Amino acid sequence: MQGSLTIKISDTIAKIDERIYGSFIEQLGRAVYTGIYQPEHPSADEDGFRSDVITAIKQLNVPLIRYPGGNFLSQYRWEDGIGPKDQRPTRLDIAWRELETNQFGLHEFIDWSKKVNAVPNMAVNLGTRGIQEAADLVEYCNFPSGTYLSDLRQQNGAREPFAIKTWCLGNEMDGPWEIGTKTAFEYAHLANETAKAMKRVDDTIELVACGSSSMDNPTFGSWEETVLEECYDNIDYLSLHRYYGYYNDDDPSELDNFLAKNVDLDAFIKGVVAMCDAIKARKRSKKTINLSFDEWNVWYHSNDADTQVTPWQVGPHLLEDVYNFEDALLVGSLLLTLLKNADRVKIACLAQLVNVIAPIMTDTDGDTWLQSIFYPFMQVSNYGKGVVLTPHVESETYNSREFNNVPYLDTIATYDSTNQTITIFAENKHQHDAIDFNIDFDTLKLKEVIQSTQFSGYAPKDDNRDGKMNLAPLTAVNLDDCHINATLAPLSWNMIQVSVDSK
Ligand code: AHR
Repeated sequence: MQGSLTIKISDTIAKIDERIYGSFIEQLGRAVYTGIYQPEHPSADEDGFRSDVITAIKQLNVPLIRYPGGNFLSQYRWEDGIGPKDQRPTRLDIAWRELETNQFGLHEFIDWSKKVNAVPNMAVNLGTRGIQEAADLVEYCNFPSGTYLSDLRQQNGAREPFAIKTWCLGNEMDGPWEIGTKTAFEYAHLANETAKAMKRVDDTIELVACGSSSMDNPTFGSWEETVLEECYDNIDYLSLHRYYGYYNDDDPSELDNFLAKNVDLDAFIKGVVAMCDAIKARKRSKKTINLSFDEWNVWYHSNDADTQVTPWQVGPHLLEDVYNFEDALLVGSLLLTLLKNADRVKIACLAQLVNVIAPIMTDTDGDTWLQSIFYPFMQVSNYGKGVVLTPHVESETYNSREFNNVPYLDTIATYDSTNQTITIFAENKHQHDAIDFNIDFDTLKLKEVIQSTQFSGYAPKDDNRDGKMNLAPLTAVNLDDCHINATLAPLSWNMIQVSVDSK
């Protein structure tokens, strides 16, 4: 099968905001306890953080991490996680029915995020709490000194403010599962008043309001309209959440349909952009609201096991999906979808980062191991830099149960002018046929292929518990000074990075 990508350096979608390669740590399951924090582990550093996990996270190059939840957030008191550890309370986490010891809290998260080279994307509880507690948290974190809360931060060891820029106004407040779930109007009013108060404390912060926690929620659309109508002037981003899997009556052998779910993600993003812009027009506003896709991933493997977990444990095995090869292919396509929408998606968080629906897993006594989905994420976050070039693609298409005209070839290129490189990401969704892939660089002059890799050759349901999955070399041939050819194996994720000269 033939497939081609033509790119022109002057034809761009947008500059990439690298915060789209963000991730998420929730105080849930083993994400924190025995994930990133385990003082008794042989690899623990002086703060009790697992250095083997830090090493793996650095490979993923995650620039921003959302914290502390998730559903956990909507019943959390941030004050429980500050001060001397032996005086912190153990509480019921009524969102996930776990015990929360609060041995890891705000200061630990800030210290740890510096060690993984990420900035925090902090969230405030608008489920059981409200305006005052949110404003207090901004004061504690960002006010220099001389007030009760900023001085308390200093007493707790942080002389300098944390200077947290990006904040989420609650989590999934449209979801009936959420503690303190709200109607659109209740949430919109509370979010707007909280936003005003938080920005009074620090007018340099950016705020993310909750959009819909799924496009399938019955309030999708009307929720966005109400929230935007009320909060438009005081927020900067609207959030989206979306998980994929084989749900309900889905047939787990319907791989063609599963691999096409990026079409749904694209429709979701474009729908929310349209709603933001409709309200902008209605308000005659000059301000544009961009998107924070602050939870996305595959999540379904652990659902049955999670119903068997005994409640009220510290750090139980919850949401420990073991990802297979087809999940990695879908995650690859979802990443390409975020890039294709880089003009409006400015923040995104792979949910989550360690142990809980995560690319990185830990053995409690042993090492870390990497899931299949680690590989496409690692490549896009490390090499998808600069601007996204508009993809002019020719590909055969297929129809699946839910989606029509899905291209077998999913591809995009990014151009990094700083070091004059172009990186092409390309996925072949065909289960049996290779794609004879031609890339036309138009007026750019190719210098050399820096690296080219493929992630292929595994059965769709293979996972990486045995650690055998890895990237393999891909032969990419310079046909002349502006064309490259490569053969993309059936069911494969590929990356080609080249250096170029502008002609
Ligand atoms: O990421 C797991 C959960 O998914 C989060 O706690 C919640 O926000 C979402 O429903």
